[in-house]
Amino acid sequence: MVLQAIKYTRGSLQVLDQLKLPYHEVYRDIRTVQDAWDAIHSMQVRGAPAIAIVAALSIAACLARLKNTGADPALLGSDMSGAGPICDNLQLLLTSRPTAVNLADAVRKLEKVVWQAQAEPESTDYSINEAYIQAAEQMLVDDVQDNENIGNYGADWMSRHTITAFPAAKLSVLTHCNTGSLATAGYGTALGIIRSLHSHGHLKRAFYTETRPYNQGSRLTGYELLHDNIPSTMITDSMAGALLGTKREEENISCIIVGADRVAANGDTANKIGTYGLAVLAKYHNVKFIVAAPRTTIDLLTPTGQDIKIENRKPIEVTTMRGPTLQSSSDGSVTVGKDVQEIAIAADLTGAWNPAFDVTCHGLIDAIVTEKGVVEKDENGDFNFEKIFAD
Ligand code: MRU
Repeated sequence: MVLQAIKYTRGSLQVLDQLKLPYHEVYRDIRTVQDAWDAIHSMQVRGAPAIAIVAALSIAACLARLKNTGADPALLGSDMSGAGPICDNLQLLLTSRPTAVNLADAVRKLEKVVWQAQAEPESTDYSINEAYIQAAEQMLVDDVQDNENIGNYGADWMSRHTITAFPAAKLSVLTHCNTGSLATAGYGTALGIIRSLHSHGHLKRAFYTETRPYNQGSRLTGYELLHDNIPSTMITDSMAGALLGTKREEENISCIIVGADRVAANGDTANKIGTYGLAVLAKYHNVKFIVAAPRTTIDLLTPTGQDIKIENRKPIEVTTMRGPTLQSSSDGSVTVGKDVQEIAIAADLTGAWNPAFDVTCHGLIDAIVTEKGVVEKDENGDFNFEKIFAD
């Protein structure tokens, strides 16, 4: 069964509630733009490409329902129809989370589609809506294809650059956060490369960090790797140095692969908090460090990582842990219950710093893998993205 974070048919959009994973698979209906905003802001849906696609499709689903039923737009929660309201709703969605640029990129492209449709001589509200719906639906289709290309380019690059005797030998990799089917329309970026390595028989083991404070690694990446029967081992974030320092064959990491929320024009990369530390460790241990991201994550309008706005989240996410209660049976077995508990784990419940992302400077990155190919630094140590934006 294919893992599907986003379920879309014309007029209907559902997202898999990632706050309930891995223990409960619950799909949420997204019926209004406000529903989409809430799902993104609360991180029921998260991951840079998935955020953009859910935002785009939430408007498409509302517009399709308008068309199918002739319903009063007010019943859908906001006035949707026509160029102005569509763009207003796009702008509203843009405020849901600030760091991932894919959403801003989608908004820019969809606004262009809307204004172009409006400029057509025979333009009507319905023709504008239809143009919007088709463009948003195309984003869903394109993302899966792009991720498969990233997976193949990344696996191929590793075959030529990792220090083990690849492809004869299998290799182990380390990843951070969740960049898979749950973070995208399907397949994934960094996790897509891991899927590609595995499907070609080249993966020994995927190690993944738990990714505090939100545990996208232990909850979501673990869930995906188990789902696909990919050999995997979780580590806590604090074990990464020990893992890279070990000389044992089984834990010998050839490459760290991460995703991105925004890649600045010079290659500096914002990704889940903890990524920067992993890149420093990789450099020290002479392990390759690569970033996997679609072109929509590369922001040529942002010169360097210092210009990227980093989302700060509430301290309570750091000072508490959330999870379902465990139920013990008389035979000694333990099952996961339905009740979610919040446990305090800090002396000071309100005083923690909680940036959701950090910036890895481009000097620490060996390659950036996109759906159009792999970008490496030139002889001056600079990334140049011109070639992959040529079309
Ligand atoms: O806060 P999140 O879970 O949205 O952060 C996600 C990440 O940092 C991912 O690595 C990134 O969005 C790439 S997902 C293909």
